[in-house]
Amino acid sequence: MEQAMAGKSPWVNEDFAEESLENIDSRFLPGTRQEVDFLETELGLTSKDRVIDLGCGAGRHSIELARRGYDVTGVDISRRMLQEAENRAGKAGVSPRFMRLDLRDLSEHFHGQEGHFVAAVSFCESGFGVLGWKGDLAFMKGVLGLLAPGGGFVLTTYNGLKRYRGEDMEDGPFDYISGTVLWQTPDGWPGGEKLREQERVYIPSELGMLLELAGFAAVKICGCAPGDFSGRRLSPDDTEMMVVARKPR
Ligand SMILES: C[S@@+](CC[C@H](N)C(=O)[O-])C[C@H]1O[C@@H](n2cnc3c(N)ncnc32)[C@H](O)[C@@H]1O
Repeated sequence: MEQAMAGKSPWVNEDFAEESLENIDSRFLPGTRQEVDFLETELGLTSKDRVIDLGCGAGRHSIELARRGYDVTGVDISRRMLQEAENRAGKAGVSPRFMRLDLRDLSEHFHGQEGHFVAAVSFCESGFGVLGWKGDLAFMKGVLGLLAPGGGFVLTTYNGLKRYRGEDMEDGPFDYISGTVLWQTPDGWPGGEKLREQERVYIPSELGMLLELAGFAAVKICGCAPGDFSGRRLSPDDTEMMVVARKPR
């Protein structure tokens, strides 16, 4: 069942981006180094490898990877997030390439640069899941196109098992037929404008199928939490799950 595509992403609203930034800084930023340690080991990265950070936000992974010598491109739809990413990179004395781009336009934008990256990462619900499953599949095919043969893709997204167990994750009502959550800003939200997004929450086997349909191989699905990236077994209690996959050689 294809979901209606959300029109404007809530992330283009500056107030929403600002509020989310505070949340990411308090809950996710402290775990960043551990997450990048895992990436380096899991994907066998070597300094100077080209890495693309999809939905890079304020650049916490892009900046940490650049500090370690990688050639990093960070893309995001939010001007506010990118502005913050540039500021933080400047303070850290590194210069990843940041660009404003909607993930829906990935293939079009990087046309002619197929196979350019050794690794692609997309952490913390960065645009994946809100495109309808066909849109999510198109996104994954786009990512595959960017990767060199053997290149790795690591993505984190919500763990549908938790939803189907009836555990509300506080962000909106869950429709278990379509597997979607309808998220919206609460009444009286100080940003004024009502923002809505319909997010597809996958169960692990669906996510694995989507990746294989896109052409990825060696798909592994694991449990994860902020600052706890290890490739451990996924538990139905995990809020997020991680996928590690490879472009076939
Ligand atoms: C929760 S933040 C996570 C940011 C970063 N990956 C991190 O882990 O700190 C989600 C990010 O995805 C970006 N995003 C959402 N939809 C997007 C889209 N369609 N294209 C590009 N970026 C998108 C948002 O602007 C936001 O910066």
